[in-house]
Amino acid sequence: AADPRLQGISDAIRVVPHFPKPGIMFNDITPLLLRPGVFKDAVDMFVERYRGMGIAVVAGIEARGFIFGPAIALAIGAKFVPLRKPKKLPGEVVSESYVLEYGTDCLEMHVGAIEPEERVVVVDDLVATGGTLSAAIRLIERAGADVIECACLIGLPKFKDFYKLNGKPVYILVESR
Ligand code: PRP
Repeated sequence: AADPRLQGISDAIRVVPHFPKPGIMFNDITPLLLRPGVFKDAVDMFVERYRGMGIAVVAGIEARGFIFGPAIALAIGAKFVPLRKPKKLPGEVVSESYVLEYGTDCLEMHVGAIEPEERVVVVDDLVATGGTLSAAIRLIERAGADVIECACLIGLPKFKDFYKLNGKPVYILVESR
């Protein structure tokens, strides 16, 4: 049977049509953040999954991976590493670009933030095409580390609850309505 917390999580995500552009259905997680019990349920479900697995690093993707990732990292005793949009990190960085609907974007990570052989979970709010997560996986693998899984609150319905991305599993809590 499905975890009873999932319905509350799904109900707390607002779907906004035509944001930020015509034709885009935006999944807004801010209502979930206003309900501490539901916010905690979401974090707890990831913590229960990753605790005790020898995860050394939670890598969060800007911007909404920064909301969930640190809470998970603290609870499982892992370090938190931000994967940022270009020109935000002051130190030496590695970069990976990815394709968007129109144009490309880029994620950057501080050199030395993740060490070889470390076990990493990548966190974001949502996976759509998977392009962003793929760039994150490439960054982490360039550091010689091991991506154990990607974790997102929301997956788009064209994907299954659990699927592979660059050979790495992606775990999602709920599908977008
Ligand atoms: C959204 C979302 C993911 C990404 C998923 O971020 O938070 O990071 O899109 O899309 P993909 O699976 O097709 O790559 P967005 O591009 O809106 O950037 P933002 O977090 O800076 O607002």
